[in-house]
Amino acid sequence: MLVVIRKDYEEVSREAARIVAGAVHQNPEVVLGLATGSTPLGLYKELIALHRNGNLDLSAATTFNLDEYLGLAPSHPQSFHYFMEHNFFSQVNVPRDQIHIPDGTISSDYEGYCARYEQSIKAAGGIELQLLGIGRNGHVGFNEPTSSLASRTRLKALSRETIEDNRHFFSDGTEMPKCAITMGIGTILDSRRVLLLASGSSKAAAIAKAIEGPITSSVSASALQMHPDVTFIIDEEAAYSLTQRDYYRHVLEMTQLFTPERLS
Ligand code: PGA
Repeated sequence: MLVVIRKDYEEVSREAARIVAGAVHQNPEVVLGLATGSTPLGLYKELIALHRNGNLDLSAATTFNLDEYLGLAPSHPQSFHYFMEHNFFSQVNVPRDQIHIPDGTISSDYEGYCARYEQSIKAAGGIELQLLGIGRNGHVGFNEPTSSLASRTRLKALSRETIEDNRHFFSDGTEMPKCAITMGIGTILDSRRVLLLASGSSKAAAIAKAIEGPITSSVSASALQMHPDVTFIIDEEAAYSLTQRDYYRHVLEMTQLFTPERLS
């Protein structure tokens, strides 16, 4: 695992954008796994700026989002469809038919729908680069604690902690969804490269458990220890509880020296 520690959120966002843009330049037909939440917003802003300056063409890229709340239509301001449209897709040039986000409005045959989502990832050639945030409880996507480490895209009941963390977004009177459709941990582990971003002290405990704790379904992100190409890009505050920070810096220097392509 590569652990890249940057000063603050802006530096985390810039570093992540550099890597995502690099993946697009290397393969314009790249398949990207995208995430929502406050963490990737800075990254999306950077990518939009690159696109505006003519330095990022996403016209051949394909995207798959991690998750969506069950029961929310794409027009709902708290839906992840709306988030992606508003914060990213309306300002870059990914063709509509190459954008995939789980449909929160399905009301039957959930298993069939989720199997088809998995199938469409496969049909696109698999995810080349998967972006992730991390929840305070260690979730990635909506893989709440005790999710099977082999899980695939499915309907998932949200944990009380996640519902509490996100309730304030639903102050307009809409009931906070109790379930979501999310790629599974197995789905995420199948992607060829993973980039997990974290910023701020509220993520320090989850980051320490994910990187240095035991692999356990109680901390879904700890499953990334089994992935052969994962890069954590985190700021000083999120890195605060890591015990091996000096070693991660040393690993990074050696990677830059011997296998810089892992950082490009
Ligand atoms: P955040 O959410 O980026 O809004 O902190 C991350 C997550 O819950 O996965």
